[in-house]
Amino acid sequence: MSCYIELNNVSFSYPRSYPRGKVAINNVTLHLRQNEFTALTGPNGGGKTTLAKLAAGILKPSSGKVLICGKDSAKMTLGEIGKKIGYLFQNPQQQLFALTVAEDIAFSLELNGHDKGEIARKVKNMLELFQLTHLQDSSPFNLSHGEKGRLALAGIFINHLDYFILDEPTTGLDVERKNILSDIVKRFSGHGIGMLVISHDEGFVAQHAKRTIEMVEGEIVYDSSKDLRP
Ligand SMILES: Nc1ncnc2c1ncn2[C@@H]1O[C@H](COP(=O)(O)OP(=O)(O)OP(=O)(O)O)[C@@H](O)[C@H]1O
Ligand SMILES: [Mg+2]
Repeated sequence: MSCYIELNNVSFSYPRSYPRGKVAINNVTLHLRQNEFTALTGPNGGGKTTLAKLAAGILKPSSGKVLICGKDSAKMTLGEIGKKIGYLFQNPQQQLFALTVAEDIAFSLELNGHDKGEIARKVKNMLELFQLTHLQDSSPFNLSHGEKGRLALAGIFINHLDYFILDEPTTGLDVERKNILSDIVKRFSGHGIGMLVISHDEGFVAQHAKRTIEMVEGEIVYDSSKDLRP
């Protein structure tokens, strides 16, 4: 099934913005196609994370509309959105909460009532893929930064979803683990799964992105899909 994410004239201000009323996203219109690996770049504070959270339905626009697979994000519950979009937070700590690494990876499948044997098999695969097997009984909070990042990735990639939005997925990963992540995102996008990746890692972006978007001060200042230069 094809799944677009559409932002139509979307603006957003944080309730506690400084200075007061400052817009973090200013009237952005953007259509993200599932078969188009998209990289989102730009300077710190430009609005990348805010835009990604709007696209994922985690934040709802102050004005304008976000459509996720054709549905208004403002009318969707987080549970409904979670069945379509996987989201990696910029700080992986924000999405780790179970008592052990293995339980953390299993969480979303357990929530959705999957079969126990199937969960165990998939968790084992993810532990192996992200080289976390030796840490499966550890507390997520005792992991190193790079291990936490790999755990957060394992927790979202265990789901079969239409679209993944990853906020700085390569931060803290060493070369070997970055290559593993590269293989996975390549495989997913090869199967038509949508990818929006925020990254300052130029090598990673150049390797994967079909489309590059740059944000500065809450606006899109460059979109390669609209670039008519040779
Ligand atoms: N929870 C919040 N409350 C108030 N203002 C916020 C909040 N989160 C972000 N902002 C502000 O919104 C603007 C955009 O921030 P955002 O985190 O989207 O930028 P970014 O492009 O992801 O930056 P970075 O590269 O540092 O991750 C910034 O001016 C930031 O200070
Ligand atoms: Mg950010």
